[in-house]
Amino acid sequence: MTAILRLDDVHTDIAQYRVLHGVLLDVPEGGVHVLLGRNGAGKTTTLRTVMGLWRTRKGAIVFRHHDITAMRTPDIARLGIAYVPENMGIFGGLTVEENMRLATATGAFDKNRLARIFALFPAIEKFWTTQAYALSGGQKQMLAISRAIVERRDLILIDEPTKGLAPAIIRNMIDAFRDIAQETTILLVEQNFLFAKALGRGVSVIDDGRIIHRGPMADLAADADLQTRLLSLSAEAH
Ligand SMILES: Nc1ncnc2c1ncn2[C@@H]1O[C@H](COP(=O)(O)OP(=O)(O)OP(=O)(O)O)[C@@H](O)[C@H]1O
Ligand SMILES: [Mg+2]
Repeated sequence: MTAILRLDDVHTDIAQYRVLHGVLLDVPEGGVHVLLGRNGAGKTTTLRTVMGLWRTRKGAIVFRHHDITAMRTPDIARLGIAYVPENMGIFGGLTVEENMRLATATGAFDKNRLARIFALFPAIEKFWTTQAYALSGGQKQMLAISRAIVERRDLILIDEPTKGLAPAIIRNMIDAFRDIAQETTILLVEQNFLFAKALGRGVSVIDDGRIIHRGPMADLAADADLQTRLLSLSAEAH
C-alpha cells in the first residue's frame, strides 16, 4: 500500500491544551479514506494540523515524499492538497463565479473541469452570478467542494460535508464524491456513518486525540458491536 499522506506520532497542542496525543494515520492513494470519531475527538484538529494551521509539537507529517510538518499553509496547498473546512470558507459577498475564481492559481478556469463541475453540481452553474450568501446550506457545500476541485489536486481534506444536509442532497453528494475520488484521494471527516460507509474504502477512528482503530470500511460496516464500542453509534445509524 502506498500512502499519499502519513501522520507519524503527531502531537498537537492548542494553547495550553494537549489535543492530539500521537496520531498515526496512513491515507492510501486513491479513493476515500474516512476519519471517524465522536465530537471533540480531534478530527478537525487533525485536518488543520495537516494544513499547517496548527503546529505539530512532536511527530511528522509526510505528503508523498515531502515532509510538510513545518511548512507554511500556502506551500502545503501548492503541493496539491485542498482543504474544505467545516465552515466551508466561502465568501458570502462574492458571487459563485468569484468564489471559484479565487480558488484557481491564475484566475483562469479550465473549461473542461468547469463543465464537469456543472455536471456534478448543476446549482453551481445555475447560481454562477449569484452572491454566495444567498445559497442554501447544501449549495454552499457544493460550492466549497467545487472550489476544491476547480484545479487538479492530489488530496482533498473535507470536514463533515453532510452536516445539516437533507437526505436527498446527501445522496447527490455520495455520487459526486465517487466521481471526484476517481482522480483524487479524499480524506473525509464524518459523523454520518451511512455516508461514510457508502464512500469509504478504509477507515480510521480517532478518540481523545489518538487513532483507536484502522481497517477496511467493510469490516467496520459489518460489525455493529465494533461500531458501538468505537463510536457509540445508535441503532438507527446502521
Ligand atoms: N481553538 C481551540 N481552543 C481550545 N481548545 C480547542 C480549540 N479547538 C479545539 N479544541 C479542543 O480540542 C479537542 C478536539 O477538537 P476538534 O475540533 O478537533 O474535534 P472534532 O473531532 O473535530 O469534533 P466535532 O465532531 O465536534 O467537530 C476538543 O476537546 C476541543 O475542545
Ligand atoms: Mg470538527
